[in-house]
Amino acid sequence: NLALSTEESRKYHDIIQQDFLDSYNNLTLKTLMGLHWVARYCSRASYVMKTDSDMFINTENLIRKLLRPELKPKTNYFTGRVIRNNAPIRDRKSKWYVSEQEYPNVMYPTFCSGTGYVLSGDLALKIYTTSPSVRQLHLEDVHVALCVAKLGLEPIDPPSHFLFNHWRVPFKGCDYYRLLTSHGFQPWEIIQYWSMICHF
Ligand SMILES: *[C@@H]1O[C@H](CO)[C@@H](O)[C@H](O)[C@H]1NC(C)=O
Repeated sequence: NLALSTEESRKYHDIIQQDFLDSYNNLTLKTLMGLHWVARYCSRASYVMKTDSDMFINTENLIRKLLRPELKPKTNYFTGRVIRNNAPIRDRKSKWYVSEQEYPNVMYPTFCSGTGYVLSGDLALKIYTTSPSVRQLHLEDVHVALCVAKLGLEPIDPPSHFLFNHWRVPFKGCDYYRLLTSHGFQPWEIIQYWSMICHF
């Protein structure tokens, strides 16, 4: 929404844009733009998270359960919902359709779901500079994983399996107190869920 983002930009100066069409098929470009920005202007950040606008992120848990600022910052660290043994979808009707021309291999590398992944700050520049030498793919999470693999690294499982969710976790009990990400929200729902988190 142009009017809202113009308003936000004026108020908070927190929107970064580059000159390309913001479409699903240009998501890889958008992610690389973000990594480039981090590498250029935020290179000493300990960690970077990439997520989507329809995600609920429990930022307190992100810090308390994953980033743990009391510890020495990790390097070469890449985590999220780790997806292994995933094959490209060859059904043209699917949102995730990938042609054999775009990606001929039978399997994707182990990747972290693009709904929300976390990397150590040092990886932003490494991934960005590796990107031109790996296969260009519109699925940004797979493209990032190809870069990570090329760097000789692989995704690391988060401390608990329940933290990163690439589906919508039903709101019950205190689940949202414990998790880190949940997928598939309207903006107003994120605000509502945030106010409903229980506190012990
Ligand atoms: C990506 O952005 C470029 C530049 O705006 C545009 O020409 C191109 O059509 C876009 N590609 C896709 C797949 O949306």
